[in-house]
Amino acid sequence: MKDLWNNSFRNARNIIYLARNYYKPKNLTKFRSMSSLPNNSSVVKFYSGEKIPLELHKVRVVQKLYLVPIERRLEALQEGGYNSFRLSTKDVFLDMLTDSGTNAMSDNQIAAMFQADDAYAGSQSFYRLLKAVNEVLGKEFYLPVHQGRAAENILSVAYVKPGNLIPMNYHFTTALAHITQNGGSVVELLYDEAYRIKSQHPFKGNMNIEKLDAFIQEKGVENIPFIRMEASTNLIGGQPFSIQNLRDVRTIADKYGIRLILDASLLGENAYLVKQREEEFKNTSLGEIILTMTGMADIVYFSARKLSSSRGGGICTNSKTIYRELEALVPLYEGFLTYGGISVREIEAMAVGLYETLDETMISQSPEFIAYLVNALDAKGIPVVTPAGVLGCHVDAMSFCEHIPQTQYPAGALVAAFFLVSGIRGMERGSVSNQRDENGNETYADMELMRLAMPRRVFTLSQVKYVEDRLTWLYDNRHLIGGLRFVYEPPVLRFFMGGLEPVSDWPQQLMAKFHKDFGDSL
Ligand SMILES: Cc1ncc(COP(=O)(O)O)c(C=O)c1O
Repeated sequence: MKDLWNNSFRNARNIIYLARNYYKPKNLTKFRSMSSLPNNSSVVKFYSGEKIPLELHKVRVVQKLYLVPIERRLEALQEGGYNSFRLSTKDVFLDMLTDSGTNAMSDNQIAAMFQADDAYAGSQSFYRLLKAVNEVLGKEFYLPVHQGRAAENILSVAYVKPGNLIPMNYHFTTALAHITQNGGSVVELLYDEAYRIKSQHPFKGNMNIEKLDAFIQEKGVENIPFIRMEASTNLIGGQPFSIQNLRDVRTIADKYGIRLILDASLLGENAYLVKQREEEFKNTSLGEIILTMTGMADIVYFSARKLSSSRGGGICTNSKTIYRELEALVPLYEGFLTYGGISVREIEAMAVGLYETLDETMISQSPEFIAYLVNALDAKGIPVVTPAGVLGCHVDAMSFCEHIPQTQYPAGALVAAFFLVSGIRGMERGSVSNQRDENGNETYADMELMRLAMPRRVFTLSQVKYVEDRLTWLYDNRHLIGGLRFVYEPPVLRFFMGGLEPVSDWPQQLMAKFHKDFGDSL
């Protein structure tokens, strides 16, 4: 009891400290040590014994949502080419497309936006952000960019030459697109466990160290400009890597003299899972875990739309040489070096958001809601990626829709079907999100996933229960879901604006069954 009290007291003290000092955190070391508690997350044990992810925040600004009738949802799908990116939010009830730019902002972030210093060059907002980058990410130099893919563009233009190979723990769509645009190729080097949907492995995002070493020896150091590690591999279920694995990757990078680049877009959540799952770090604060990870990378880049619940992005390093190699590309592609295409208001929100990444009760909220949903679905036998990762709940469409061949995009079909029966918008993370090879052939994804993103502090637990309910119904009626085919396919990043159509009248049949079971209910 005493421990519990101490925990919540220290926890509250952390938050007050953070709130008061977010713009002048003079004594970050003190803050870091205060938060180094074994359990400082948002999960609370109820009298019943159940552990519930409790909302440790209150809702002070709300946005009304509409659950439109299923007939309208079908029309919306038809208008949007059965592509959830092309739906209008007026037709969407729970928007689980992504956490990118959709995390709830804190009162302190919004307050900070009012002190924005509008200036083309030398804005004080930039210097406040630079300080946050120095302190939270431990990097001296920072190049602002308007979002994550802009960092990928700059890094690829600077370092990727035709024929180059980039080993990584997994690709992200935009990283792959920029690397291939510059003539390079991506090589994913994971352990087999990463591709298993159901697993107990705590770090499915780990780089396969033996394969990495052998790969560099076989292909030659001169063809490998950098190794890319992605925190919480987005496309294979938001699975983290361990710090031990990053240490091993660093050792290999040093052995061959290759740069190590860390995609830190989902770093906070990866750090949280390190604390939960890696014995050595169970008593370490998130701040120290984050610094341990960033300290091993030559370059850290990120999408601030994710990392700091704002907009923007960045590239950071402690190497003056690297900074100089990249510096000129920022004004060329983004904007002057003290704003990089980001609005100064967002720069302020980003600085505060970076400090808030150190708050474990905040960072734990999304992964704990995800774990709640994943475990509930898993208990019902609904195929989801386990263990629960970050970013969202990932439903295995290959198994959910095992009657749909991969040529008919089972993950795309599942996303469309789920929107139809629930108004919930997920994202296809399967073959539709893949790009064709250089000969124009389909490259089928390793996994066909429907991702239901859980932006930070946006949904309530009853909304999560609605997700569980409608997905359970759909699972029981899964034989009614049919495939999709492309009718419009853009040459690059086709999943964003591509258009598809159902291969039969399955949406109408699914709607008829919905009416049979739910009557007039929405
Ligand atoms: C791991 C990862 N890297 C890079 C990006 C690209 O960031 P942005 O959408 O800000 O361009 C994303 C976006 O979702 C991501 O998840």
